[in-house]
Amino acid sequence: MLNETTQTIRLWETQRQTDGAPLSLPPKAYTDPGFLALEVESLFRGQWLSLGRVDEIPAPGDFFTLHLLDEPLLVVRGDDDGIRVLANVCRHRNMIVASGSGNARRFVCPYHAWSYHRDGTLDRAPNATPDQLALLDHCRLECLRSEIWQGFIYVNLDGEASPLGPRLTALDLVLQRYHTDTMHQVFSTQETWATNWKSLIENFMEGYHLSTVHPQTLAHMTPTRLCQKLDGGRDWTGYRAHYPENFDTEVGNPDLTPLEQRCSTLFSVFPGQVVSQRANMLVYLALQPLNVNEVCVRWGLSVYDRNLSAGQIDQFVDEWKAINREDHSILARVQVGLRSGNAVAGPLGRSDHEGTVIDFHNYLASHLLTGRN
Ligand SMILES: [Fe+2]
Repeated sequence: MLNETTQTIRLWETQRQTDGAPLSLPPKAYTDPGFLALEVESLFRGQWLSLGRVDEIPAPGDFFTLHLLDEPLLVVRGDDDGIRVLANVCRHRNMIVASGSGNARRFVCPYHAWSYHRDGTLDRAPNATPDQLALLDHCRLECLRSEIWQGFIYVNLDGEASPLGPRLTALDLVLQRYHTDTMHQVFSTQETWATNWKSLIENFMEGYHLSTVHPQTLAHMTPTRLCQKLDGGRDWTGYRAHYPENFDTEVGNPDLTPLEQRCSTLFSVFPGQVVSQRANMLVYLALQPLNVNEVCVRWGLSVYDRNLSAGQIDQFVDEWKAINREDHSILARVQVGLRSGNAVAGPLGRSDHEGTVIDFHNYLASHLLTGRN
């Protein structure tokens, strides 16, 4: 199965290089479970995936839990103020230890009451025998490789990826005046979208559709004609969506340049994260594929100004719910088209419109064909 998938990518690589115009991925890439299996192994287990924001767990003992692919995870701030991503699986009989979110002095397994400290090390194993205790010297909830970048928490499931921060230094320069890392989360939710995960990344990252898909919500602010691609890197891509002259903005952040005050900066940290950075607001979507036709989307919204009223926050959230509804509706129909016998790898347009999609495809090709980078 994997060989067949690799052959499909190789053929597409050759075609798009010889045809002159950049071609979109072959439809099979969005519908074939074999393709998804390779993506999960090479990209989602092998690379950095965002889990949430540091200010979701501001105090020692604050935690949240989630499932990433098939891995139950516990994200917790320790007494040393460090954030750890722990395997949420008891070392005794593999029960899920923590549930939901909140603050805990220690984590007690609901099965046999083994308890773990906030850093994951074993606290107590009630009634354990001397033989058991002899095996418990280094007993702890497994600590996975994690990294913080711009206020986002990332995990690398297979523990083999090279560090994320150094890969994103060019993007740090783009964001340097936004104060992305200290923006304050006011909303988060989880949804299932009826589309292949790659279509969502491609859609979020191209400005070509803004005027047609979002006539009421975005076109007056970020029309397609004013989109401008950023140079991007191997592990990310981005573009700026500039505002028309007659569009009024309120800017609370005095550090931004006039250009930054009058545009949205959209970027994707590959493979699974897309972000819209505005002067006063940050919206981020973290994706994990459920199957070829569905993707789990955890998305959140943070703000620059911590003194916003509840009404103003609701307005931001409602606006983004509407934008996401419009995109979801289009993408669900694209997925139906991709399953058609008449689906094709279509030609992509100019760089400012769809160059980011080409960057994403280059990333996919290099990782899926050559393995880890
Ligand atoms: Fe959109």
